[in-house]
Amino acid sequence: MLGSVCSRVAAGVFALAILPAALAAITCDADNLCPESAPCCSQYGECGIGAYCLGGCNPKFSYQVESCAPQPICVDNSYTFDNLDSLESNTKYLGDSSQVGFVYTGYPLESDGNLLATMPNGSVGTVIATSTYVWYGKVDVVMKSSRGQGVVTAFILFSDVQDEIDWEFVGADLGTVQTNYYYQGILDWFNSQNISLSDTFANWHTYSVDWQQDYIQWSVDGQVGRTLYKNATYNATSGEYMFPQTPSRVQLSIWPGGLASNAPGTIAWAGGEINWNSEDIQEVGYDYAMIKSIDVQCYSPPSFVNQSGGKSYRYLNRNGTQESVVITDDDTVLASFEASGTDMNAGESSSSSAASSSSTTSAASSIASSSTTSSSSQSIPNASEVEQSSSAEPSTSSVPSIPGGSGGGNDLERGSSSSQSIPDASEMSESSSSSPSSSSGASTSSSASSVTSPATTATATAGSGFSQGGSTTSTNAGTVVTPGFGLLVVSFITFISGFLFVI
Ligand SMILES: *[C@@H]1O[C@H](CO)[C@@H](O)[C@H](O)[C@H]1NC(C)=O
Ligand SMILES: *[C@@H]1O[C@H](CO)[C@@H](O)[C@H](O)[C@H]1NC(C)=O
Ligand SMILES: *[C@@H]1O[C@H](CO)[C@@H](O)[C@H](O)[C@H]1NC(C)=O
Ligand SMILES: *[C@@H]1O[C@H](CO)[C@@H](O)[C@H](O)[C@H]1NC(C)=O
Ligand SMILES: *[C@@H]1O[C@H](CO)[C@@H](O)[C@H](O)[C@H]1NC(C)=O
Ligand SMILES: *[C@@H]1O[C@H](CO)[C@@H](O)[C@H](O)[C@H]1NC(C)=O
Ligand SMILES: *[C@@H]1O[C@H](CO)[C@@H](O)[C@H](O)[C@H]1NC(C)=O
Repeated sequence: MLGSVCSRVAAGVFALAILPAALAAITCDADNLCPESAPCCSQYGECGIGAYCLGGCNPKFSYQVESCAPQPICVDNSYTFDNLDSLESNTKYLGDSSQVGFVYTGYPLESDGNLLATMPNGSVGTVIATSTYVWYGKVDVVMKSSRGQGVVTAFILFSDVQDEIDWEFVGADLGTVQTNYYYQGILDWFNSQNISLSDTFANWHTYSVDWQQDYIQWSVDGQVGRTLYKNATYNATSGEYMFPQTPSRVQLSIWPGGLASNAPGTIAWAGGEINWNSEDIQEVGYDYAMIKSIDVQCYSPPSFVNQSGGKSYRYLNRNGTQESVVITDDDTVLASFEASGTDMNAGESSSSSAASSSSTTSAASSIASSSTTSSSSQSIPNASEVEQSSSAEPSTSSVPSIPGGSGGGNDLERGSSSSQSIPDASEMSESSSSSPSSSSGASTSSSASSVTSPATTATATAGSGFSQGGSTTSTNAGTVVTPGFGLLVVSFITFISGFLFVI
């Protein structure tokens, strides 16, 4: 349960080292709503515009509920990964879910028809989230987890008000997968349960979440491992069902729970300090999880829902329950990284190029094509093939518009990367193949301290960032936080000072 706590503690720590705007980062939580000038509260608890108003934008803590852009409605889909064309960096994505299947931070790669979520030496990993939301449905992911102490893989459903349904893989115990859930980001020490299975790194397994209005079932290879009934989550004091019930994105991530700078509780939960000289880092330059397919089957929304359209979900108020969600025909695309839910056309002309989906896709496709070559001798491309793209950073205005900024979580890394282990541009050029990467990895992590008291969260320090990944939670400066699902933790102290952000 320590694990659950830790994992849950998601807090997002992100450091934007590069953007000056990060210095002025404004944090947000229940007691500190975002100001009008930076109206959107990202999933990592930082105020901004643009990407901050897209996936993960928390209407409870934003300037107005409407500050967050409408959330793309559920679409049945079966994703496979012969290339990475369906992925787009969060520094480019503006909300057009018809063009982009997944939004990422970090270092996704393609190999032999599989999507790899990688964590290069010293990095905070990768987070990949669907552009569309699921509001009750069945999600099946065929995957192999990462391995090694301190290395965590997660597959979760995560809503903008931080309801969460988790599968978590701790690399120190490949014979166990942990299941967990959260309601509106409220930490609970007792919700985690384990399921035993054959080696999660060596074997493909199908992990399923069957999310019904009255229960959730976690299954492995078609066999139910856990059932949570909604009626078992009733809180008589508040009169609420503490049951995940709001539109959620599917997120897959790899992150360093065992980062030395993380809180002791987090490191212990992750199975010990991460070993950057692990077999996988030595062989290919990164730890990785492999995703063969992701299937999303949408269920009907609750019968009471006011459905005035078929394009998007919106929250009507800050309650964050399913009763506060409506289905509309409102558009989900921002004109630029200067736009928000209440001014979706802002910056239209100036940022059109950045916003164009074509530019976006091209990056992704280059990745894919290059990675094809990579697998010559091995089944997975190595780190030199992962390149760091310098491009992608949208211009920022005075208000942070890209969570994770130029590099987002990665910024942390990036900052650190110069001196450390992430392959730099020169290495890229050497390797012929490869890919892309964006910037950042995940971002969340938890610290034991934060774990213990959610209140810490509120105390967070400043920072910036956000990434598409994890859940939410708090942090304390200098520490990394981890979200329930997979985000990372990071704390390179140097960087952090001043840039961390916690939720
Ligand atoms: C789940 O398994 C891990 C070891 O992999 C253990 O540390 C943890 O306590 C277990 N959790 C529960 C709820 O049994
Ligand atoms: C909860 O719901 C399930 C399924 O409807 C039912 O079998 C079970 O008895 C209920 N439990 C309680 C405590 O009401
Ligand atoms: C139930 O609700 C009350 C009042 O909101 C809250 O104080 C308590 O922590 C909740 N119980 C759990 C298990 O979260
Ligand atoms: C990972 O990076 C650390 C710090 O730069 C370095 O000491 C270590 O040797 C690297 N691991 C590998 C396998 O290269
Ligand atoms: C990565 O791949 C390149 C090209 O195949 C190879 O030259 C290099 O030695 C590999 N690096 C590692 C760490 O395996
Ligand atoms: C349903 O939503 C539409 C659009 O927001 C609104 O005009 C209508 O009044 C709503 N109906 C009800 C019953 O709330
Ligand atoms: C929000 O929830 C509270 C408590 O359940 C309820 O009294 C209130 O009416 C709700 N607000 C809206 C706008 O639905």
